[in-house]
Amino acid sequence: MSGLNTASDWVWVSKASAIAREAGARLREFFAQGVVTEYKGDVDLVTVADRTAEKLIRQRLAEAFPEHGIYGEEGTRDRLDGEFRWYVDPLDGTTNFAHGFPHFCVSLGLEQRPAGIAPDQDGAMVAAIIYDPLRDELFVAERGRGAQLNGRPMRVSHTRELAESLLATGFPSRKRHESPNIHFYQELTMRSHGVRRAGSAALDLAYVAAGRLDAFWEFNLNPWDTAAGYLLVEEAGGQMTDFSGKPFRLDSREILASNGLIHAELIGLFDDMFAGRNLAPIPTPHEFAQRRAERATAAGQG
Ligand code: IPD
Ligand code: CA
Ligand code: CA
Repeated sequence: MSGLNTASDWVWVSKASAIAREAGARLREFFAQGVVTEYKGDVDLVTVADRTAEKLIRQRLAEAFPEHGIYGEEGTRDRLDGEFRWYVDPLDGTTNFAHGFPHFCVSLGLEQRPAGIAPDQDGAMVAAIIYDPLRDELFVAERGRGAQLNGRPMRVSHTRELAESLLATGFPSRKRHESPNIHFYQELTMRSHGVRRAGSAALDLAYVAAGRLDAFWEFNLNPWDTAAGYLLVEEAGGQMTDFSGKPFRLDSREILASNGLIHAELIGLFDDMFAGRNLAPIPTPHEFAQRRAERATAAGQG
């Protein structure tokens, strides 16, 4: 889908963009003044900015779309039996935010759930808004109406090979010891132009949609992280599945988003990874230390 939608063409995006911008402006103020950080668990952080932004978004969505449900990261569970449901991440990139690292966003994704759908089934994502308040970048999409970045049509990249691609991933803030992702990080670093770990899954997905990244993967994300990005990627011509190529679901424990062109190659590599096949060897720190000591000895003798 392409073409330039005007504000009057959008069904939900215009009003929801204003809400994301207002929440983003609050985040910008909190970011400038600095906030106290609390722990939700292990290294999972939360701040007054997360809670204030969710409260504001909840209030504004209820005013703009009184019938719609809201499912927010910071605990909002309103009207979840209706036809429409917003997935809200009021601040994606809290760890960055808390450390003064300028990379975070507001993410709002709207799902349409037909009457009678089972609670564990997905409806269709119909609107997406991701707003980066520090760069003033607004990524939006509606189903069948294309995706835009600051009012201009946005498309995924044309990169055809993993070897020429720029990738991104993220690591969980809970149960870190159970995640195998560092192995995937290593392998994909060897086989691409590089892997970024910038700390906002929603922006990673928006960047795949905008063609700034060729692919993104992560384990164990939540619907508020992925709902909006999912529609952005699809409407920008990309593809999103689990690691086996099966359709992405909002409660998927695996997410692989790409420009579509390198998707099959990535799935083949994930298959190899899970089977322990064709992995690129690198020295262990111990092996490296031995070589380093040998080099020092040789230099001392020379
Ligand atoms: C986190 C970010 C991060 C990802 C984590 C998420 P939060 O969301 O998206 O990039 O690696 O898995 O939990 O906690 O900042 O909203
Ligand atoms: Ca998040
Ligand atoms: Ca968050």
